[in-house]
Amino acid sequence: MTSDPLFQHIEQMHGTRDWGRVLDAGTGSHSLRWICSLPTTGWTAVTIDTTRVQSTLKGIGGSLRETDAMVLGDWTDPALLQGERFDTVLVDYLIGAIDVFTPYFQNRILARLLPHVRDRIYVIGLEPFPSQTPSIAGQLLIKLAQMKSACRLLSGQRAFREFPAKWVERQLEQSGYKVEDTKHFPNVFRERYVRSQCSAVRRALKLLDDRNLAQALEENLQALETQLLDATKTNNGIRLSSDYVITASRVEAFPEDSKTT
Ligand SMILES: C[S@@+](CC[C@H](N)C(=O)[O-])C[C@H]1O[C@@H](n2cnc3c(N)ncnc32)[C@H](O)[C@@H]1O
Repeated sequence: MTSDPLFQHIEQMHGTRDWGRVLDAGTGSHSLRWICSLPTTGWTAVTIDTTRVQSTLKGIGGSLRETDAMVLGDWTDPALLQGERFDTVLVDYLIGAIDVFTPYFQNRILARLLPHVRDRIYVIGLEPFPSQTPSIAGQLLIKLAQMKSACRLLSGQRAFREFPAKWVERQLEQSGYKVEDTKHFPNVFRERYVRSQCSAVRRALKLLDDRNLAQALEENLQALETQLLDATKTNNGIRLSSDYVITASRVEAFPEDSKTT
């Protein structure tokens, strides 16, 4: 069984249903490794990011069955997976990444996926960080997130944009789904998270044309990183925001399914 509490929750919500054919609509090593551990009849994993194809395949040890497929594609393309349907669809932190690749498509992605959803859809997301929080450590983490977005923008890349569970629930309801359940998982951020976010900022800083500005930002980042690493040790992790899992199903059965019932 998976040790990830979000995937554990999905397994519980899924109960005795068949997993059948599974679509990982925004793939990565973490989600696909979990899907590979399930008794599926096949999976299709989609990413728009060329670099993720190899890293994700490496993450699962490269073991694909004939019924498994890694697809490099863009959900704004109407031809992507046309006519294919899946028993289970996972939308794992996809919505928060859409602004990076295909901005302004966030409010259309769930309707775009509907023709592919035969039964259940599970949406995982992160509640957007607030601008202010009473905890000093939490405020430092907010500053790091702001710095990451600012440095991405300065280096000519778009920033990630998370959406609240309430917004996703509304989108699901407007897109032909019934929300069955929403569960929040309070976040505790530790050293690994701080280091990975700082690395992401440094990757963006490398792309900055203005090297003086990059140097000043690097110094600022170093000070912030030291404070944050101390805070993760002192407070046994930093509590801020939460992840969520929304379970939803189609309002209307697939036309082919309703003919036989
Ligand atoms: C943050 S990652 C998801 C995390 C991933 N599930 C994991 O386990 O690491 C976002 C994914 O959504 C994909 N994505 C974002 N916008 C997309 C689009 N318009 N079409 C297809 N894939 C997209 C990215 O390429 C990436 O694979």
